[in-house]
Amino acid sequence: MSITIRISSLTKVYRNHGRRVFALSNLDLDVQSGTVFGLLGPNGAGKTTVIRAVAGLVRPSAGSCEVLGAPVPRSMQHVVDRIGVIVETPGFHPSLTGRQSLEYLARTRPMRCRSVDEALETVGLTGRADDRVKTYSLGMKQRLGVASVLLKDPELLVLDEPANGLDPHGISELRTLLRRLGDEGRTVFVSSHLLGEVEQLCDEVAIINEGRCVAQGRLANLLSVGHQARVRVHGSGRAARTLLESAGLPCVESTDGALLVRVEVEDAWWITKVLAEHGIFVTELDVARTTLEECYLELVTRSDDQASIGRWGR
Ligand SMILES: Nc1ncnc2c1ncn2[C@@H]1O[C@H](COP(=O)(O)OP(=O)(O)OP(=O)(O)O)[C@@H](O)[C@H]1O
Ligand SMILES: [Mg+2]
Repeated sequence: MSITIRISSLTKVYRNHGRRVFALSNLDLDVQSGTVFGLLGPNGAGKTTVIRAVAGLVRPSAGSCEVLGAPVPRSMQHVVDRIGVIVETPGFHPSLTGRQSLEYLARTRPMRCRSVDEALETVGLTGRADDRVKTYSLGMKQRLGVASVLLKDPELLVLDEPANGLDPHGISELRTLLRRLGDEGRTVFVSSHLLGEVEQLCDEVAIINEGRCVAQGRLANLLSVGHQARVRVHGSGRAARTLLESAGLPCVESTDGALLVRVEVEDAWWITKVLAEHGIFVTELDVARTTLEECYLELVTRSDDQASIGRWGR
């Protein structure tokens, strides 16, 4: 399988009020051709900077980024027609119809074009194609954005948080669309905060934190690391966490306040014993296969703990 995106030791330093901000620090990432690849990470992790680097919109401070075999941004002109990029919510003139917007783009960008009708059909906008863009919902504008890049018939789609602001129905439609584009053999490189979505959509993921890659691989491999106990206690969750950790059971707190403890099913009794011996009683204990959210929280928390080199400097 060939590599569509190869990022090697990529570092991007911004200046902010005289201080240097390491948006990316020695980041390595390979995206195989034909995969739907999800880029995950907390706010400020560097996802948009990676997306912009792949789109040739930022110049690396060090390291390199190769897209479809071309070093970018230096040789972007050789591959730009094969890449469809949506970095922010795409803007269209509100008084043009969806069809007119795409026809305008098709006329102004002579390239190996898909027909406007085909692009509208692919994103499910045929029925609203002759309505003005100002009457479109956010989800429809987002899909029109995807249609606009499909006019190029791109091998690679690069999307920064495309589901931002969409309702559950819009998110599910977008997921179906991106999955279909992936199944057609295109490479889809997408950043997202929606872990459940990524779990359903992507073949591979990378988790970045503080500008570094903390995990990368096939989703199935990342999730096959074992079981996780979801524990709720009567009383202090913090005290329970300290106790479990000192008993050699590393845990993190989930977004809903439960403690997530990596443990095999047959050893789960150990959690109740450790806590009960210190007067903390378990009100809920459920052992299940790790979800992407649990895996993500654990990896990001661990990388926060291990961060030895600050990203802020002079
Ligand atoms: N143009 C810029 N000038 C200065 N600092 C910047 C600039 N762009 C990004 N940064 C900084 O680089 C870091 C990474 O930003 P980036 O936008 O890539 O994160 P992100 O993962 O996309 O975050 P979010 O989830 O909030 O979108 C942040 O600390 C941000 O403040
Ligand atoms: Mg971002």
